[in-house]
Amino acid sequence: MERPTPTDVEHEVTNIDMIVSKSDEAGNITYTNPIFMKISGYSQGELLDQPHSLLRHPDMPKVIFKYLWDNLKEGKDVTAFVKNLCKDGGFYWVLAQVRVAKNPDGSFRNYVSTRKKISDSAKEAIGALYAKLLEIEKSEGIEASEKALMDFLAENGQSTETFNDYMTQLNQAA
Ligand SMILES: Cc1cc2nc3c(=O)[nH]c(=O)nc-3n(C[C@H](O)[C@H](O)[C@H](O)COP(=O)(O)O)c2cc1C
Repeated sequence: MERPTPTDVEHEVTNIDMIVSKSDEAGNITYTNPIFMKISGYSQGELLDQPHSLLRHPDMPKVIFKYLWDNLKEGKDVTAFVKNLCKDGGFYWVLAQVRVAKNPDGSFRNYVSTRKKISDSAKEAIGALYAKLLEIEKSEGIEASEKALMDFLAENGQSTETFNDYMTQLNQAA
């Protein structure tokens, strides 16, 4: 599928929207709920078996996805802000909670992402952080951007241990 050309048209995520998808171990989509299709503009047929990176927006720093996968591979859930690219080139921001679901015998079942609306203050703060991380990635590479992300956490009295709670807190801040 040809990648859409990004536009500055924002698609609204409302207070009651819960955008859900599930994936296999590689991140390929195995399930999406109707609101996922409505907001992204893709049909179920266009989404199933496709990698989640179909939605990857060029404004997203690589380090956020590295952080996501490093944690998922260790069996840890991640809560992170994501800007996604729609089929029509528009975008939407969400706070995604990605967790590892297990079978009763403890084996891997799937990854489940539940996404909700983000606050205007989070959009502003995270938009600025991500722009900075992207810039660092382009000029100095991903290691420098990873350091900048850790510095951001430390400057705010946080760490990777408190990352998820801090992201949730940022979304609630007025
Ligand atoms: C359950 C799950 C949901 C994901 N949802 C998204 C998403 O909504 N948008 C996105 O860009 N990446 C999402 N990802 C991350 C992608 O797998 C991928 O790492 C990311 O798009 C970067 O792609 P790239 O490394 O090919 O550039 C998700 C991963 C998982 C496991």
